Amino acid sequence: MDKKITVIGAGNVGATVAQLLAEKELADVVLIDIVEGLPQGKALDLKEAAPIEKHDANIVGANSYEASLGSDIVIITAGVPRKPGMSRDDLLSTNTKIVGSVVAQIAPLSPEAILIIVSNPLDAMCHVALETSRFSKNKVIGMAGVLDSARFRAFISMELNVSVENTYAFVLGGHGDSMVPLPRYSTVAGIPITELMSEERINALVERTRNGGAEIVGLLKAGSAYYAPASATVEMAEAILKDKKKILPCSAYLQGEYGVENLFLGVPVKLGSNGIENIIQINLKEDEQVALQNSANAVKELVESLKKIQAPS
Ligand code: APR
Repeated sequence: MDKKITVIGAGNVGATVAQLLAEKELADVVLIDIVEGLPQGKALDLKEAAPIEKHDANIVGANSYEASLGSDIVIITAGVPRKPGMSRDDLLSTNTKIVGSVVAQIAPLSPEAILIIVSNPLDAMCHVALETSRFSKNKVIGMAGVLDSARFRAFISMELNVSVENTYAFVLGGHGDSMVPLPRYSTVAGIPITELMSEERINALVERTRNGGAEIVGLLKAGSAYYAPASATVEMAEAILKDKKKILPCSAYLQGEYGVENLFLGVPVKLGSNGIENIIQINLKEDEQVALQNSANAVKELVESLKKIQAPS
């Protein structure tokens, strides 16, 4: 392949991302983890599936960062996942250290790369990646909205018994309990769901979307979701590699857009070969803008505690 993607963290999300990237022949893949043998074993296993899956992507596993040299995209999934009863925010201290050390090692080897952050708490981890890499803000992108919107779409399709392909949904805000699903902009074959369902049913789906991650954590008991997070990440990587100019909800560094200053938050962006090529500003009704601001406040609070972790007194 003429493109190279490094995936940091060869756990559930990372290995599934590697599998999807290879099966779609989007790029050669380097899988890196701190656990000896884990990325090598998973990479070899994926290589051995290649003759059956009919792809020629090269996949290598490594414990050191040299293998990532000159990557076009680096996807960061390293960290610890949630356990039942934990919120994404509970991971803050552990994952801040992990993401900080990963980005410090990756950035000098791939200075032109676009970083896609998956580790939670997502929006706060994007801050760590932006500050540590010193990359321009269009090159640090958080994966959240695509996942949350896919969950909302899945629930809409189950509710109305229609193809998922007919569904479209927008979920904005932080990747946490305060996320902002927008029913007005969520459609089935172009028809807003507000015309297809009662307010009560919409509210139930919105609530299920907000708790989508926790629902899976509760079922799995050990670890958190990974199929849908991996699919969402690969959709973003594909839009960037193919310069598709695709509008997707992603966590982006806002400087005044939506009235939010210097904060990562989920908003619609245009993804292409330069990463975030545009932040799309859609008109929000007053209650939607208030919900987005509340979500921004929750992310801001987390980023403030992050600063305390980074600079203990
Ligand atoms: N460098 C590289 N890899 C690391 C590091 C590090 N410093 N620290 C941890 N890892 C690796 C672990 O060894 C593990 O293999 O990250 C991997 C994480 O995999 P899982 O535990 O399976 O977690 P996963 O479900 O993939 O979730 C990873 O994504 O969705 C988020 O909340 C989730 O933050 C979590 C992340």
